[in-house]
Amino acid sequence: MTEHAVELALAALEPPARPPYLVVENVTKRFNDFVALQGVSLEVGEGEFVCFLGPSGCGKTTLLRAIAGLDIQSSGTIRQGGRDISALPPEERDFGIVFQSYALFPNLTLRQNIAFGLENRRMPRPAVTARVEELLELVGLKEHGHKYPSQISGGQQQRVALARALAPSPGLILLDEPLSALDAKVRLHLRNELKQLQSRLGVTTVMVTHDQDEALSMADRVVVMNVGVVEQVGTPAEIYNAPATRFVADFIGAMNFLPGVVHSGEVQVGEMRLRAGRGVPAEGIHLTAAIRPEDVRIIGADPHADWESTNRVGVVVEHVEFLGSHVRLSLGHPALRPALLVAQSSQEVVRALQIVPGKPIEVSLPPERLRLYEDKAQATGASHV
Ligand SMILES: Nc1ncnc2c1ncn2[C@@H]1O[C@H](COP(=O)(O)OP(=O)(O)OP(=O)(O)O)[C@@H](O)[C@H]1O
Ligand SMILES: [Mg+2]
Repeated sequence: MTEHAVELALAALEPPARPPYLVVENVTKRFNDFVALQGVSLEVGEGEFVCFLGPSGCGKTTLLRAIAGLDIQSSGTIRQGGRDISALPPEERDFGIVFQSYALFPNLTLRQNIAFGLENRRMPRPAVTARVEELLELVGLKEHGHKYPSQISGGQQQRVALARALAPSPGLILLDEPLSALDAKVRLHLRNELKQLQSRLGVTTVMVTHDQDEALSMADRVVVMNVGVVEQVGTPAEIYNAPATRFVADFIGAMNFLPGVVHSGEVQVGEMRLRAGRGVPAEGIHLTAAIRPEDVRIIGADPHADWESTNRVGVVVEHVEFLGSHVRLSLGHPALRPALLVAQSSQEVVRALQIVPGKPIEVSLPPERLRLYEDKAQATGASHV
């Protein structure tokens, strides 16, 4: 174990509850000398909605294209519905795909766009007509079938692209940043629509996104990727509450990082001595303790809270930012400088405790909310000793 959380997110390692429909095993993809994917393995359950989430260039699209057969992997296997599809060309696979850019045929009407894949499959004309009308209705564009792509909005074009992908009733829907090109409001709206449609149809879906809100709100499970490897697979709650690696802890949501070293079973951060929940590593190990702003408790904020709360730390308020629904406090402590400890609080608490810049206050870092990540360089070094 190197960069993995000391407290292992065991739940995240459980297989999906549904029978696996798509199985990716040890897939590696090289572009000449460059390794874009390295030993990627994952399972997508039947009817599941899975998101590939990660920063730009981490290999999300490459993995999706390997699953589609658009860019065959250098090694590893891919199975869909029990069939080994590793070497099949796209046209012999069973998927529908939607890209970020609408990619509709500009010279065809919406009806003709949706019908395109069906006519290619030599479906009888009356059946095509019926299916196209059904899909137009499904994506809420019943009245627009006669229009051309340029005559409808971006959000509507993505609905048509989705209808076209769904038309032949594929076993798998692949979506590569389908909402990224849309403005924020349309994106939020389509997010809900897409999610509802997916669960109504029960079609197994893989969506690539670099937007964590999108992934956390839409996916049954999230695959967090970083430079060609899978860092964690888990439900949105698992990923948020128990990030398995320091990368995931940093990438998802806001997090405070406190650099420390293990001393007598506690984490020593400068003069601070912190107790951690479970799984404190061996004496002398260098690590980073992580805690979310909403888990930093302000002493006195809740008069009913346990007065003897552990891990109490004296800090000085540096900034108070009102962010509408909550207040962000930036707190100074000698052991953390130049970094500041960020805490999330409410306007009531700030008012009641008269929290203003310059004021010394006390906070508590609850042991069960602290996650520990061993420092990578030293963990590797230690294994040589
Ligand atoms: N055809 C190619 N030839 C060479 N390198 C490639 C090729 N396609 C992708 N790459 C490289 O592989 C890495 C992964 O690319 P990929 O497109 O999968 O990233 P991504 O996670 O989808 O990023 P983004 O969020 O920016 O779309 C990148 O470093 C990219 O430059
Ligand atoms: Mg991409």
